[in-house]
Amino acid sequence: MKTLLIVYHTHGVKTAQMADAVERGARRALVEAEAENEVRVTVKRCHEAGGEDVLAADALLLGTPENFGYMSGMMKDFLERVWYPCVGKIEGRPYAVFVGAGQDGSGAVASIERIVTGLRLRKAHAGVIGLKELTPEILARCEELGATFAAGLALGAL
Ligand SMILES: Cc1cc2nc3c(=O)[nH]c(=O)nc-3n(C[C@H](O)[C@H](O)[C@H](O)COP(=O)(O)O)c2cc1C
Repeated sequence: MKTLLIVYHTHGVKTAQMADAVERGARRALVEAEAENEVRVTVKRCHEAGGEDVLAADALLLGTPENFGYMSGMMKDFLERVWYPCVGKIEGRPYAVFVGAGQDGSGAVASIERIVTGLRLRKAHAGVIGLKELTPEILARCEELGATFAAGLALGAL
């Protein structure tokens, strides 16, 4: 059984709605592929997740709002906590990022990428930035992100 770990933080609602859509897409893809017993989908808030969750994950989807041109403090706290337990042990595992932002989002993406590149994770999808109000199109892209990762793990094609 493989594990897809979705970790996110929000003090609001937008990134949570994006995370829900990512999870929904992942679960739907597994049902459609009749692969529910092949991939476990785990969803945690940053403060609930730690090194053991990351070590147990075959792929990671990281979600955060952009705050002050950076990832949220809680996402940074999560990455700081998992660094020593995980560095050198998760090289090559696929990841992607989803960001809820007002007008930019690129700083949040870049700040996460800088750290997970140090962990030698492998970017497997361009990710999703949701600007301003969430639209059905952005939520559909979040669902597609989850589906890509879940189906990719099930098929060994990620
Ligand atoms: C303290 C703070 C800082 C923010 N900084 C940025 C920023 O640098 N760039 C941006 O595009 N939006 C910024 N925003 C807007 C949020 O990223 C945006 O409202 C986002 O959708 C919030 O997601 P959430 O509902 O999951 O908290 C900021 C909001 C707050 C409260």
